[in-house]
Amino acid sequence: MNETEGQRPVLSVRDLSVTFAAKAGAFNAIDGVSFDLARGEILALVGESGSGKSMTSLSIMQLLPEAAQMRGRIEIDGQDVTALGRRQMEDVRGARIGMIFQEPMTSLNPVLTIARQMTEGLLRHQRLSRREATAQALACLEEVGIAEPDRVMAQYPHQLSGGMRQRVMIAAALALRPGILIADEPTTALDVTVQSQVLDLLVDLKLRSGSGILLITHDIGVVAETADRVAVMRHGRILETGTVDAVLGAPQHAYTKTLLASHLTVEKGLMRHRSEREGADA
Ligand SMILES: Nc1ncnc2c1ncn2[C@@H]1O[C@H](COP(=O)(O)OP(=O)(O)OP(=O)(O)O)[C@@H](O)[C@H]1O
Ligand SMILES: [Mg+2]
Repeated sequence: MNETEGQRPVLSVRDLSVTFAAKAGAFNAIDGVSFDLARGEILALVGESGSGKSMTSLSIMQLLPEAAQMRGRIEIDGQDVTALGRRQMEDVRGARIGMIFQEPMTSLNPVLTIARQMTEGLLRHQRLSRREATAQALACLEEVGIAEPDRVMAQYPHQLSGGMRQRVMIAAALALRPGILIADEPTTALDVTVQSQVLDLLVDLKLRSGSGILLITHDIGVVAETADRVAVMRHGRILETGTVDAVLGAPQHAYTKTLLASHLTVEKGLMRHRSEREGADA
């Protein structure tokens, strides 16, 4: 195949399987998942609890638990990252993939100030002076709606509320303007106003930086308002995938229909999504 830079997906997952060995036999958390993520698109991964959404994102980050066995190919900019060593993978994380974890304390270090954590990646992956990195970190904290970034920079994670920690983590992931952003339920812990601010930030990152974003959510309203395409997961498999309009407008799979029926907000979200699209196309 003669693929050019522009056409090649920024992320390509092929035949991904994740197995946990157990006394009762092997358990397939992920069972043959394949999908592509293009530049400048938001792909939503939806599905019930335990369907394998987080395991999919941890596979891409190569951060699966020790007990998990992974098979399949994961290509980032055409490079198979499953073959990379630990050090090389550390460079890929942060610089090329940012991740917003479902649980903020997973990625924030309890013994380091927010300033240290916000500037660490900028100093490591971009050639910034400490002063420049600090200025950029402050700007990123402001972007995610933190009113007194100076004060927050001097604090430790445990001194912040859950919502604030979530925002700091989002700011840290956005700071490096990664080509790929994985956001695992990024707004679940946030109140509605901040939630829509954060979703706006994701759309902004996609439009301004051309990042590809994998947005994991169980909220169909969020999918309708934010995503371009959607993949529906259940029991470690992708049941159906397509544009948001196609999948939400005419779901093929019985499970997708059930998922949609349980979300009364979908109509409203879809209408907003459509009118925004039409506005953008005009
Ligand atoms: N360390 C582990 N050992 C064994 N099984 C695990 C482990 N971690 C996760 N699993 C199982 O893998 C499956 C997929 O889990 P995963 O966390 O990806 O679900 P999810 O779709 O992210 O769910 P949620 O919406 O609740 O976050 C689940 O059945 C889960 O119980
Ligand atoms: Mg999860």
